[in-house]
Amino acid sequence: MALRIRSARPADVPAVAALHVASWRDAYRDVLDARFLAGPIETALGAHWQAMLGGKRRPGAVILATAAREVAGFAAAWREGTNCHVDNLHVRPGMRNAGIGRALLGFAARRLETQGCTSADLWVFARNAGALRFYARLGAELGPEVLRETQGQMVLERRASWAEIGLLIAACASDDGAIATVTQVAAGSRQLAEEPTP
Ligand SMILES: CC(C)(COP(=O)(O)OP(=O)(O)OC[C@H]1O[C@@H](n2cnc3c(N)ncnc32)[C@H](O)[C@@H]1OP(=O)(O)O)[C@@H](O)C(=O)NCCC(=O)NCCS
Repeated sequence: MALRIRSARPADVPAVAALHVASWRDAYRDVLDARFLAGPIETALGAHWQAMLGGKRRPGAVILATAAREVAGFAAAWREGTNCHVDNLHVRPGMRNAGIGRALLGFAARRLETQGCTSADLWVFARNAGALRFYARLGAELGPEVLRETQGQMVLERRASWAEIGLLIAACASDDGAIATVTQVAAGSRQLAEEPTP
């Protein structure tokens, strides 16, 4: 499977929103309200990505992994002072555990490091055991459970943080064979330099 990693463009809004919806429906079916996941989520996430990619961009990066021109995963990270806040990281159901998430997170963190970020963090649903293991493997410090609002619903979450962004970048650049293949292809992508620094 040939994978490429590139910056997202305004034309990617429908594909990113569709993957986001599919990933939430798959991963969060025991976390978020079933009625919300069945319908309103499409409008909510469509509007979110239209604002993020179609209008004036927030300072940061939205990185896509594509396979045969289809979006296989994406990561969004925003610059908050000198902190890289990872807002979203999703890999298409059926393509997980192949190194794509790690490659995306590593690219996003490197991009934000070049924009001056020295630390990184994100929030994970406390019931998302797979993602918690994923971040723990990448050396994150996991905080206590905190009740936070997501799309109008109060959900227990945990903060994953890296005091030094370099530790996250190094962990994402693990020696694993599959991940090396992904990053090698991505490093050769002409599109890596396309996204202007907002
Ligand atoms: C979490 C997610 C982004 C990870 O991306 P990925 O491409 O599947 O993960 P990778 O293949 O890069 O890394 C796999 C590593 O994470 C661990 N991992 C990832 N998902 C896991 C899961 N559901 N259960 C157990 N371990 C998991 C694996 O053990 C593996 O560790 P190892 O390589 O040391 O053995 C992806 O699984 C996903 O999209 N999940 C649903 C949405 C989600 O939870 N996003 C995170 C929101 S905070």
